[in-house]
Amino acid sequence: MNNDFVVKIENLEKTYRTESESLTILRNLNLEINSGTKVSIVGQSGSGKSTFLNILGGLDTATSGLIQCGPFLLNQLDEKKLTEYRSSYLGLIFQFHYLLKDFTALENIFLPAYMAGMPKNEAREKALQLLSDVGLSERAEHLPSQLSGGERQRVAVARSLINDPKLILADEPTGNLDPANSKLIGDLLFSMVDKYQKTLVLVTHDMKLASKADICYSIKDGSLVQVVE
Ligand SMILES: Nc1ncnc2c1ncn2[C@@H]1O[C@H](COP(=O)(O)OP(=O)(O)O)[C@@H](O)[C@H]1O
Ligand SMILES: [Mg+2]
Repeated sequence: MNNDFVVKIENLEKTYRTESESLTILRNLNLEINSGTKVSIVGQSGSGKSTFLNILGGLDTATSGLIQCGPFLLNQLDEKKLTEYRSSYLGLIFQFHYLLKDFTALENIFLPAYMAGMPKNEAREKALQLLSDVGLSERAEHLPSQLSGGERQRVAVARSLINDPKLILADEPTGNLDPANSKLIGDLLFSMVDKYQKTLVLVTHDMKLASKADICYSIKDGSLVQVVE
């Protein structure tokens, strides 16, 4: 058995409760992801893809179940451990880029490393390398407002890698882009994950993009079911 897992989930359940009703979105969800594996998740709108990714990202909590990401047991983390988990273990990419508008492309990539305590020179070197990896060396000093949508998303991909995370979580990273840019960003994401040997969980409704992963799952009735092509 390969114990080099990055994600291990047993019996995850997520129920949203309001005063009048309770809604179970995820149930009996099991998943194991080995280091270096690229996983994609598809499923209808409202099926729970973002809920699932947010739980993995420590942005939401499961109602019950075991969720282990490397050494981190997600349901048991205090604020300090949660921050450590997010800054050291994870790289996050969303549909919207969430770049800081008053900072340049280079600074946006560099800041998470600097805030995590990396020496300034080292962080800058790494950020320049990542900027070059995503083909934006010429745009280092541009503000997000001076970049195209596709370029902003390229910066977001570079930023997700700056702290050398183990696991990259991407929720509809191409969702806001036109078809040509979607293809570019999708290809770039996979090539960066390969280059830096990361583990990837990608949520997308783009089947073509999803099929680039090693394993593709669909969320059906709250559980993950492998999609066989
Ligand atoms: N905070 C919340 N409270 C109640 N219901 C929620 C909340 N967040 C999401 N939901 C519901 O959970 C379901 C799954 O949402 P989501 O994970 O965003 O789906 P997807 O990303 O697959 O489109 C939806 O029916 C949504 O309405
Ligand atoms: Mg979603």
